[in-house]
Amino acid sequence: MIDMPSCLIRGVRSVELVASNLDEAARFYEMVWNLQPMPARNDARLFRGTGAYHHVLGLHLGAQPAVIRIVFDVADRQAIAHLHRTMSAAGVKPTAPAELAAPGGGYGFGCKDPDGRNLFFVCDCADHADSEDRADHPRRIAHVNLNARDFNASLAFFTDVLGFRMVDENAPLWFLHCANRDHCSIVLAKTDLPTLNHIAFEMPDCDSVMRGIGRMKDAGYPVEWGPGRHGPGNNVFAYFCGPDEVPLEYAAEILQIDETYQPRSSAHWKYTPGRSDQWGITQPRSPRYYRVQRLFGFTADGDRII
Ligand SMILES: [Fe+2]
Repeated sequence: MIDMPSCLIRGVRSVELVASNLDEAARFYEMVWNLQPMPARNDARLFRGTGAYHHVLGLHLGAQPAVIRIVFDVADRQAIAHLHRTMSAAGVKPTAPAELAAPGGGYGFGCKDPDGRNLFFVCDCADHADSEDRADHPRRIAHVNLNARDFNASLAFFTDVLGFRMVDENAPLWFLHCANRDHCSIVLAKTDLPTLNHIAFEMPDCDSVMRGIGRMKDAGYPVEWGPGRHGPGNNVFAYFCGPDEVPLEYAAEILQIDETYQPRSSAHWKYTPGRSDQWGITQPRSPRYYRVQRLFGFTADGDRII
């Protein structure tokens, strides 16, 4: 029996979304959000960051904006097989592991989590040799924040089945760390809907977040919350409503941790009245952002082979 690390997930590789206007959304993610388009296939548009992942965002045309799937990075086929066995034993009913035909290839499987979200787990993708930082350009997805309707079942799934470690709690948010150095890769929000709260893209530095705010403002996407510095994860943040009102975050200077990190409870993270970040400079979240951070559901079939 080979020893496997406690968490086989190395991070969020990509997110795939339904976009109601593919051309407009593609223009936004290239010209404003500063991702780089990859060769398209059929009706899909793919974008990479400056990091090594083949792509970090996929867009597919559809009438109802939604999340199709979240794709996680796994080291190799042995880890995929182990994760698949663990899920099957937990009664999750994953699809059979298979070679993936989608651009970037890879090998993996999908499943639905307890709240019906489509998750995918892949290894052996055709990643890039170049991964140099570029000012004002996102590296990759830093974390995905998910609204949980069945919060206890979702938390148990991510920790007991997928092996994430709960590193901080700031109710209604729980921060989950996997096998990389980032403070968290998934955040669960205790709510009443199984929807997307937001997708955070990692910028190389604080200046890039600030310049990103300016670029978004010029393009008609004003900052909805921020700039500020979060408590848990310590990252600089700015939140926006993108095409189809998708909730997006630019994040930088994310706290890097290891197994010695001591989790803290909600009581530790409370700000003084009137503040919603460490610096005390941001306005509260806009009413528009409050609304859109609940809107995006998951499609019915995103756990199928891609
Ligand atoms: Fe975030």
